[in-house]
Amino acid sequence: MPAALPASIPDPLGHTPARRRIALVSSVYDELVEAYPAWWVDLLGEQNHVGGIESTKWLFARSGLHPGDRALDAGAFVGGAARFLASEGVRAVALDLGRDFLAAGHRMDGGASVDWVAGLTQRLPFSEDAFRSAWCMDSYIAPRELSRVLQPGGTICLCCEVPVDSRGGVEAFIEEWRELGFDLTAHKQLSLEATQAWRAAETELVRRRPHFQERYGQRGYIAQLDMVTDLVQAYERGELGHGLFVFTKG
Ligand SMILES: C[S@@+](CC[C@H](N)C(=O)[O-])C[C@H]1O[C@@H](n2cnc3c(N)ncnc32)[C@H](O)[C@@H]1O
Repeated sequence: MPAALPASIPDPLGHTPARRRIALVSSVYDELVEAYPAWWVDLLGEQNHVGGIESTKWLFARSGLHPGDRALDAGAFVGGAARFLASEGVRAVALDLGRDFLAAGHRMDGGASVDWVAGLTQRLPFSEDAFRSAWCMDSYIAPRELSRVLQPGGTICLCCEVPVDSRGGVEAFIEEWRELGFDLTAHKQLSLEATQAWRAAETELVRRRPHFQERYGQRGYIAQLDMVTDLVQAYERGELGHGLFVFTKG
């Protein structure tokens, strides 16, 4: 990965400092894309969850976070949410099992203001009550472990898939958090947005088949397309839904 150009070094492309920063940031993400042939890295971008930055802002507005509070972004990828929180004055920690994702995030816009930690969400390397808010956006959710590191009165902010079938679906999901001592304080349906996002990904994989087939290999391409097609069908059959949730710890 190229090192960031110090401001004193003239940019060979003649960019102004602001343009240069944007060019460097996008080149960091582009290099990550190059190194990780996976449909979700290729097609969802650095705010790698349904609804993008708007979902991040929606959760932040309801998270109860204030400047100086500590927040955890679990399964952070390149820390799209963590870097946004840091830009709002929050002391953000980004945790992910992928060290390369963390290294890229550290070099992206706002990355220097975030603490980057390699680890698993189900075994968080933090003490009890370490955070005012714990976030998990389209990543593995470990309710007990996220609850353990959260202060009383703190919030869990989720962007996630939820079952919506006739067996209870979203109610069962909410009930599980209630049993852990949480109240649901905000919820937004994102099932339509998710269905559209997965359909768009499927369309893109098919439209640019030669490109993706070369990138993933023939079997890899079929596997990735199958994955996205299964997702689209599960959403279209009404078996899966997506949503934003804020739970507050009692
Ligand atoms: C779809 S990406 C979402 C990234 C990020 N939350 C966002 O919204 O931009 C899922 C991320 O979760 C990470 N992940 C998956 N399982 C994990 C686990 N058990 N512990 C920590 N990270 C995990 C993956 O490495 C990946 O970076």
